[in-house]
Amino acid sequence: MNELQERILARKRETNTLILAHYYQSLEVQDVADAVGDSFALAQKAQSADCENIVMCGVRFMAESAKILSPEKTVYQPNAEASCPMAEMVTPEDVLALREKYPEAAVVCYVNSTAAVKAVSDVCCTSSSAERIVRALPNKQIIFVPDKNLGAWCAKAVPEKEIILFSGFCPIHDGVTEEMAAAARNAYPGAKFAVHPECRAEVVGYADCVGSTAEILRYVRASAEPEFVIGTECGVVEILRREFPEKQIHLLREDFVCADMKKTTLMDLWRAVNGELPPITLPEEELTGAKRALERMVSM
Ligand code: 13P
Ligand code: SF4
Repeated sequence: MNELQERILARKRETNTLILAHYYQSLEVQDVADAVGDSFALAQKAQSADCENIVMCGVRFMAESAKILSPEKTVYQPNAEASCPMAEMVTPEDVLALREKYPEAAVVCYVNSTAAVKAVSDVCCTSSSAERIVRALPNKQIIFVPDKNLGAWCAKAVPEKEIILFSGFCPIHDGVTEEMAAAARNAYPGAKFAVHPECRAEVVGYADCVGSTAEILRYVRASAEPEFVIGTECGVVEILRREFPEKQIHLLREDFVCADMKKTTLMDLWRAVNGELPPITLPEEELTGAKRALERMVSM
């Protein structure tokens, strides 16, 4: 631990603050967190947290979800400029227009979305719960926003449902092409492929394991294989390389970096635990609507 990390930990205890961090955060940020997880685990932690304040190290929608699930707590996002580009690709108006076109359909909204979009959706999902939620809904038609790749992955896994896809995507995961996947297969012919479902279908087609960040970590941890190609952000690879220095862990694309996730520095985190930043606030109608959709996800 360096001196700033020690100061953050001491201040966190004095202020009854819980620090949560996504797997894509830098290791120095993860190292001072009370819990590190995928989007789903972080949403659950935020809901059950027994503390006065939550600092969510991640992008804006993650901090919003923590506030929505724990409205009585003060929630801080250490770097307010960290925002998921995919979340900005769909608006509440887009969802309402789709509802009008498909009145029988349920709207499933990936958590990588704004609170305003969640508020007009029936239920949220994360990458690790998407398939289960689509399957469990009574509706045959499902409008899935915003990620077209995760939606297509669900459509393939649950063929009895008719999935209406939106056009959103993650610029980082969707930027992996089939040629890149083929090149990695050629370069590392003995390696197991673990890929996030935000990647394109033709890339997911190369995978031995398709799953959320937590599921990819679980897959590698449970495997005796010596070599892996990881098709998600470099944060997951850093965790695995530190944990398994004897294994060969390759990134599917060289520049697999979410610039927004990497915006959070230790200094930002210090300012957040020290109460120097404005807390997350949301309009009442967004809080209520989005809470319903997020709580339904957690309960399903
Ligand atoms: P997870 O749900 O796997 O944590 O993914 C979140 C995310 O932003 C992936 O790009
Ligand atoms: Fe958004 Fe992609 Fe970054 Fe995940 S990796 S936060 S989906 S931009």
